[in-house]
Amino acid sequence: MKHLLGINDLSPEEIQDVLNRADYYAKALADGRWDRAKLDNKIVLTLFFENSTRTLTSFDIAAKRLGADVVNWNVQTSSIKKDESFSDTIDTLSAMNPDAIVIRHSEYGAPGFVAGRVNCPVINAGDSWREHPTQALLDALTIIQEKGSLNGLIISICGDVAHSRVANSNAQLLTKMGANVRFVAPEFLMPQKLPAQGIACFDNIEEGIKDADVVMCLRIQKERMDRGSIPSDAAYFNKYGLTLERLSHAKPDVLVMHPGPMNRGVEIADDVADDPTRSLMKKQVSNGIPTRMAVLDMLMGE
Ligand code: NCD
Repeated sequence: MKHLLGINDLSPEEIQDVLNRADYYAKALADGRWDRAKLDNKIVLTLFFENSTRTLTSFDIAAKRLGADVVNWNVQTSSIKKDESFSDTIDTLSAMNPDAIVIRHSEYGAPGFVAGRVNCPVINAGDSWREHPTQALLDALTIIQEKGSLNGLIISICGDVAHSRVANSNAQLLTKMGANVRFVAPEFLMPQKLPAQGIACFDNIEEGIKDADVVMCLRIQKERMDRGSIPSDAAYFNKYGLTLERLSHAKPDVLVMHPGPMNRGVEIADDVADDPTRSLMKKQVSNGIPTRMAVLDMLMGE
């Protein structure tokens, strides 16, 4: 692996390698024993052109846990605001020789464009609705910790699938690793083209989560939609909100996931989000650290 641009580029064996390393770091963090100097003297440059809480902070912490220094470039205070072009900005930053670049951008394929211009590994932290590979990897780690394996599980991904890079990367990873993926969304939030073979589509949530082992909820990505096509929060919750009543159609030991940020009372009810036995959201966030340590180590470590 030279860069991590998308799950699309990875074989099942490569996915398993990253998951094994992420599992190693999850256990090492719990025991307090790992090589804190693994990335000593390396510089990780984060370029976030879109907002982030979880992804940016966990890349920052993951890099520092391995001894790297992190430079968080900020679009608001950058020369992009003086009309410098994206490619000139990338060439400028590349001339400072960072050891890795982590990028999030609203343009489809921007991380691949950057990878073609710089001399260091590039990690995609989310581009448009295309891919968010480290989110899919940390979600897979979380499911495996709870269920032992992905193989044969029924995993329903519910909500604004059409605009979600999380759904896109997860659907590819999960099908490559043997899970049965379902998309559950109203027609206008269902993608035109499915990211993998074998995905079953449902517009009725009760049917879509029937017998599911895992239900993944997604926010409506209003920033990627025309104002006119955004449904009212109440109408959406009424038909698609994940409530305890609806969840009773899934397996009794169903687990609920959400990549965050969540909009309570829109795609998910409070009592589902806060259910201490079924909701994995905090575990997902915690697993962002070992997963990103694994990726940084594999791309930058000697
Ligand atoms: C998501 C993202 O930005 O792709 N969040 C995340 O990284 N955990 C999902 C979203 O914005 O809804």
